[in-house]
Amino acid sequence: MTAPVERIKAQMRWEFERVGPPDGFPAFHDIPIGRYTSDEFFELERMHLWSRVWVMAGRADDIAAPGDYLTFDDLVVPVVIVHGSDGVVRAFYNTCQHRGAPVVRDQRGSARNLRCQYHGWTYDMIDGQLVSVPDERDFVGLCRDDRGLRQLSCEVWQGWIFVNQDPEAAPLRDWFGPVLAELEEFGGADLRTVAVRSEVIPCNWKVTAEAFLEVYHFRHIHSRGPAGDSALDHRGAAMGLFPNGSSRMVTPFSRPSVEALGMADWADFKHHVNPEFADTAAVNDMVRSTSTAYSLFPNLITPVASGGFPFLMFWPLDQGTTRLDWIHYAPKTWEGDTLPTAWQRRLAGFDLIMEEDVRNMAPMQRSLESPAMRGVPINYQERRIWHLHEQIDRTIGIDRIRPEWRVAQVLEPFLER
Ligand code: FES
Ligand SMILES: [Fe+2]
Repeated sequence: MTAPVERIKAQMRWEFERVGPPDGFPAFHDIPIGRYTSDEFFELERMHLWSRVWVMAGRADDIAAPGDYLTFDDLVVPVVIVHGSDGVVRAFYNTCQHRGAPVVRDQRGSARNLRCQYHGWTYDMIDGQLVSVPDERDFVGLCRDDRGLRQLSCEVWQGWIFVNQDPEAAPLRDWFGPVLAELEEFGGADLRTVAVRSEVIPCNWKVTAEAFLEVYHFRHIHSRGPAGDSALDHRGAAMGLFPNGSSRMVTPFSRPSVEALGMADWADFKHHVNPEFADTAAVNDMVRSTSTAYSLFPNLITPVASGGFPFLMFWPLDQGTTRLDWIHYAPKTWEGDTLPTAWQRRLAGFDLIMEEDVRNMAPMQRSLESPAMRGVPINYQERRIWHLHEQIDRTIGIDRIRPEWRVAQVLEPFLER
């Protein structure tokens, strides 16, 4: 399935011409500050959100052969992801059922079974069953069947491994719905990891995510050159809100970008191919002629492109600290680890944009904690932010959240169908 290009183009036209939000669009109340600053809200997220969502944990080609494993700690609970001898990728808690040592300690490795490095309890790599215990005679009444490694939900989609701590989690495709279907033309299974960047930022994870959910800020902090040109025209940005908090944003190019690319106007979608980068031919012309990005609830945002693109991921460390990772994937046409010059240039350009965003985010947490800040008003073109917050509340369970910290559930009638 490709994105509904003609419908999105019509929406962009409409966005350019509108004089306000559409009829019947709700007035948002302010987003309560406690959602960004309180330990209590952070704890609710930790207990009821991060324990129930699908997150990207690695690439299948990181564990390409049966017996390969990698550890994953970004959900705070230690996890080991294993390529079983039956070819299936599974995730287990990396917690030995003897005295809780990590079963494996290396970030990556290969083994015939999972043997705890502390006292040698050994688990089967396919089902996590406890298969041997040194000096078993010294345990009274030990039942091996009760002491297997505990498993997490795990699915591989287009070469990306996703895990979810919730054993009852909806299947990945059902949960993300149209987003995964639209991303399929990017041929993820054929992409390779090109570059990995990571930065710790002193602000709440939602502050970092929100910076990539709107383009209202774009021309103010990302303009370039002596004329202060913005590459994008945010006035025509079309948002697509999907069930379960995920979304799409398509932003037209600005006049200078349109001219540089030889387009008649922003709507003249063409099959642009940059010869400096290996190209995924199936990618549609809207993506090639706009800035298009998807968000996968809760913590993955990807600004897509035909010649490779990054995943941005937001990992909360505490209520006021986040690790922001951005990992570039692309059809890899070169040998070895040295990046071609074109890629070095491109990464430097992307890092500059990230630096502009990050420079802005870090001081925001201090403001959010200041008595000067009473609430966060959100406008129509920032509605993907509201959509994120609504889903956070639904995932945590609205009744668990103090009434004064909830956001109203109002965007359902505005989902894309
Ligand atoms: S903690 Fe793993 S064998 Fe003892
Ligand atoms: Fe930005």
